[in-house]
Amino acid sequence: MSRAYSLARPLLFRLAPEKAHRLSIQALKNGLVPRIDVPIDSRLRVSVAGIAFPNPLGLAAGYDKDAEVPDAVLRLGFGFAEVGTLTPQPQRGNPIPRVFRLPEEGALINRLGFNNEGHADAYERLDARRRKPGIVGVNIGANKDSADRVADYVAGISRFEPVASYLTVNISSPNTPGLRKLQSGEDLDRLLDAVMAARNGYAAMTATPRKPVFVKVAPDLERDDIASIAHAVSDHGVDGLIVSNTTIRREGLRTDLPHRDEAGGLSGRPLFRRSTYVLAAFRRALGPDFALIGVGGIDNAARAIEKIEAGADLLQMYTGLVYGGWTLPTRILADISQHMDLNGIRHVSEMRCRRTDAILSAGPG
Ligand SMILES: Cc1cc2nc3c(=O)[nH]c(=O)nc-3n(C[C@H](O)[C@H](O)[C@H](O)COP(=O)(O)O)c2cc1C
Repeated sequence: MSRAYSLARPLLFRLAPEKAHRLSIQALKNGLVPRIDVPIDSRLRVSVAGIAFPNPLGLAAGYDKDAEVPDAVLRLGFGFAEVGTLTPQPQRGNPIPRVFRLPEEGALINRLGFNNEGHADAYERLDARRRKPGIVGVNIGANKDSADRVADYVAGISRFEPVASYLTVNISSPNTPGLRKLQSGEDLDRLLDAVMAARNGYAAMTATPRKPVFVKVAPDLERDDIASIAHAVSDHGVDGLIVSNTTIRREGLRTDLPHRDEAGGLSGRPLFRRSTYVLAAFRRALGPDFALIGVGGIDNAARAIEKIEAGADLLQMYTGLVYGGWTLPTRILADISQHMDLNGIRHVSEMRCRRTDAILSAGPG
């Protein structure tokens, strides 16, 4: 943790989690974040799904749901920022309180339920920045009371394709009842048919390059689910998988922790092992060329490196930022560079998949 953040954190943590979150968005919006020297290391540049990323570490969805601060987020050193989840209609989400800190574990539980201002406002903000540099992905979802969820995803693709660097189809939030059913069987096929057709149709109509489509999955998948999702995403020409969203499991968490049994998705350090295992399982199922984005419990360089060694091309984090502060991304990047210096590694991709098999043998924890 930086010194400034070690002073600020106790004050922020006296606020309810959502108040602290709102305050941090306002600070980013108003330029109140101290200038951060972002290390630039050409060994960290990666090209994934046709996009050239300055470094592989991105901000995960859920922090900047309404695309209020993507450029300020990029100035923290992130190689890319993902906004959303955005649903067609604005929606309030579940009743407050719905976010809980578990500081002893470096974790959060949330059951926000896709609270967001809807497509129109976010589109306007993204349209206003579309000529700026910086990679900004848009994560799309379905309204809770939608009569046709597939149509909501198609609407998200059509709306944001012109302004997004890539699109993420989020079918793994545990907080919209029934949403995760879209991860399996015919539901998944029907969804992927529709979203890929919408993506390809827009690109053909406007004679512009196709924007990559990533699918974001849950960590709570069994071996058969992993095999069938891998099959479906390759069949439909999906460009990448984001592994993973939050978990509904609580195994491995101390039983005496306050908030442990709150309903919702658990993120942060306790998610690391399972999400990394599922990432490795997808790497094995999909082979070496498929793009994988590793998310879940990254809060230092060692964990970032382990995700890459499991098979990740790109990384994302959210909860680590809550506990580690705004300088964490640059510290993680600097520490990855130092690890490469010490071990004679010439490019970050040399570490990719080095330990897929070992991580699979160790199990999901
Ligand atoms: C408060 C909160 C809100 C989130 N909202 C979203 C969301 O809207 N869409 C989404 O795809 N993931 C959402 N996530 C999941 C994160 O993007 C990420 O997949 C997960 O937290 C694991 O990464 P982490 O351990 O680094 O936080 C949210 C996570 C948290 C903690």
